Amino acid sequence: MKELDGRIALVTGASRGIGKAIALKLASQGVHLVINYLRKRSRAEETAVEIRKCGVRCLVLQANVAKDDQVEKMFGEVEKEFGKLDILISNAASGVLKPTWELTTRHWQWAMDINARALLPLSQHASKLMGRGDGKFGGRILAVSSLGAVRAIDNYAAVGASKAALESLVRHLAVDLAPCGVNVNVIQAGAVDTEALKFFKNRDEILDNTLKRTPAGRLITPEDVADVVLLLCNNKAKMIQGQTIVVDGGYSIRA
Ligand SMILES: NC(=O)c1ccc[n+]([C@@H]2O[C@H](COP(=O)([O-])OP(=O)(O)OC[C@H]3O[C@@H](n4cnc5c(N)ncnc54)[C@H](OP(=O)(O)O)[C@@H]3O)[C@@H](O)[C@H]2O)c1
Repeated sequence: MKELDGRIALVTGASRGIGKAIALKLASQGVHLVINYLRKRSRAEETAVEIRKCGVRCLVLQANVAKDDQVEKMFGEVEKEFGKLDILISNAASGVLKPTWELTTRHWQWAMDINARALLPLSQHASKLMGRGDGKFGGRILAVSSLGAVRAIDNYAAVGASKAALESLVRHLAVDLAPCGVNVNVIQAGAVDTEALKFFKNRDEILDNTLKRTPAGRLITPEDVADVVLLLCNNKAKMIQGQTIVVDGGYSIRA
């Protein structure tokens, strides 16, 4: 039997990209899924079809993670459908790509609300539904961050700062939730060629440079990130708490 068989996971922003790969990876291990999206219902439904082919249940829920009332409603649906939650993956993100001198308060707030603050209500609701199973698992909360949390990337100030705040929040949640058996960690990913990258004017340059500088000799994929999610959900990772795990093929250690 697979270790995570029968567990319940909620993945935000799971209709496409990295979130979709994470949801599919968990489904391949027998985990039942709640996939969240914001705008593109058809993409989320397509992903749900793929997930159900793994033989697990999949609930599709629209909610803007930055809106507390929508998040509350989403967890109400999760409780009604499954009665508990074992794994929360906070993956949804958005942002405005502009140089610092063009950023407005609205841009800043947008990135902070979706990318950083959302983890707080998500974790508050999720942790209430965790530990309701056999008592052996507790729960896992994983947030997806980027190298821009600790590095200056062109036009990335608002998103980078929000990811830095996210990583700090993870450490504080980890301290508060560890006594309840909930592990909270963050995966800091290098550049991944998803639809999100199309918003960067210098997308090709980013991908070329990343490839050249990555010791592993290739770009990381959504599946690479999903593999690390699985690793951190494993019982053997239960003493990894409040950590930022970098998944970038060695890119960031290069001088
Ligand atoms: N791609 C990269 O190079 C890279 C690198 C490092 C880290 N990351 C991180 O990895 C995560 C996923 O990135 P990605 O490249 O896979 O993104 P993506 O392809 O742009 O997908 C974003 C997903 O988030 C959903 N979403 C956006 N805003 C939302 C909101 N307010 N509430 C709920 N759902 C929302 C989208 O749903 P709809 O389509 O329905 O709007 C979509 O499912 C993000 O946290 C990102 O910062 C990405």
